[in-house]
Formats: sequence, structure tokens, C-alpha cells
Amino acid sequence: MREITFERKNIRVLVGKTAEECAEFAAAFVTAQMAGQKAFKLGLATGSTPVLLYRELIKKNQAGEIDFSGVNTYNLDEYYPIDPKDAQSFREFMEENLFRHVNLPPENIHIPCGNAPDGKEEAKRYEKELCDIGGVDLQVLGIGSDGHVGFNEPDSIFPYETHTTALTEQTIRDNSRFFESEDQVPRNAITMGCGAIMRAKKCILIATGKNKAQAIHDAILADPAPSCQASVLQFHQDTVFVLDEDAASLL
Ligand code: GLP
Repeated sequence: MREITFERKNIRVLVGKTAEECAEFAAAFVTAQMAGQKAFKLGLATGSTPVLLYRELIKKNQAGEIDFSGVNTYNLDEYYPIDPKDAQSFREFMEENLFRHVNLPPENIHIPCGNAPDGKEEAKRYEKELCDIGGVDLQVLGIGSDGHVGFNEPDSIFPYETHTTALTEQTIRDNSRFFESEDQVPRNAITMGCGAIMRAKKCILIATGKNKAQAIHDAILADPAPSCQASVLQFHQDTVFVLDEDAASLL
């Protein structure tokens, strides 16, 4: 990994040659943060990018290098409405790609409920849960090609609280690869707002591929603006970006 530093910006950027190298680095980073912690609060992301990281964490857990028994996990978002048991739900995505393969107690899993009777009430419930913990110890993030974090889509503000949101056409297109067809992609979601993300003690944002290069440029080099929600991280106390060369190509 090579490091890029920026004058007067509190952002660390590590660049790897491949997505696999990035995932190995990110897994070592998460492992180091979890080491010796009794009640670690780990924020999680979905999408294809973190899958390689989760595979590394499963390997480390099965090798006894990390222990999830005392960890509480908090996911960024969930489609709404969707049945949590639906193969395309983020809950099922997490079960398939991490939860089912590590010793994480099911009662320690926290994620917006996709089939709660009222989305706005569920957002309020999740926001209270996130406020009550004060902030996760480490938030894993991906980034959308439009610069979204969680489902905080390009907006005129940085939404503070957990909220329901409509997905942009770009996000629906990007996420349709997980569905039979684009019209099956849910049009709404419940997402952590920027407040919960900014309360994280540390953030690690992973991005790979040319299609993320502009979003990464806007997140780190452009003036912070809600048109690129990830740019809020320029004000975060401790964020590291882990990128492959393609995603870092405009830095
Ligand atoms: C979804 C998720 C985001 C994720 C983004 C990028 O919109 N809500 O949390 O970062 O997709 O996904 P991918 O890593 O597949 O590019």
C-alpha cells in the first residue's frame, strides 16, 4: 500500500494495487481496532466492495484471530419496504456475507427493519438506538458512484438523522445488478444520516474501480458539498480511505 497525504486535510489515503490488497489491508485495520476491545461497536456497509473485506474477517474469525462474541454491529442502511428475509435485503446480504459465518450473537445485530409498519417511525427508532450508543468505534463505508454514503444521496443538505429516502435513478441502476431487473429495485430506503456517521470514532471507506474515481475526487479534493455526501468526511476526526489505483486515479 502507498500513502497519499493532503496538506491541512484530516484524511489519510492508502492506495493498493488490487481490490484484494485493499481488502487485506482493511481487514488488518479492523482487526487492530477490535483487538482487546470488550464491547466493540462496528458499523457496517453493504454493496460489492466490502464483500472481500468480510471474507477476510471470516477467515480471521475462523482462525481465532478476531472474536465477534462481544461485538455489536450497526448497518448503515436497508431498503424500505423489503422483507428482511428477502434474498435481496441488506439484512440477508449481511447474513450471507458475514453474520452466518462468524460468532456474532444475533441479538447484537442492529439494522433498520425493512418491513417495519412505518418507515419514518423505524428511522426514528434506529436513530435513538444510534444516539444511545454515542457513536460506533469504527464505521466501515463504501461510496456510491454519485458520492453517496449509506443511502445519503446527492442533496441540498447533509441530512443529520436516520431517515427514509428515495433512491436516485443512478443508484437504482447501480444496484439493479443484484436484482432480476431494474424495476425490482426498491425505490426507497432507511439510512443512517451524516450525524451517526460523523459520531463514529473512526471511519474506513473502501473504494475500488474507475467508476468511483470521480466520487473519490469530489469526496476528498473538492470543497465539501452535499452534492457529494462523502465529502462530509473532510470534517471527520479520523477517516482513512482505502483505494485501488483506479479509484485513486483522480487524486
Ligand atoms: C449501496 C449502499 C452503499 C454502498 C454503495 C456502493 O448504495 N447503500 O452503502 O457503499 O451501494 O456499492 P458497491 O460497493 O457495490 O459499489
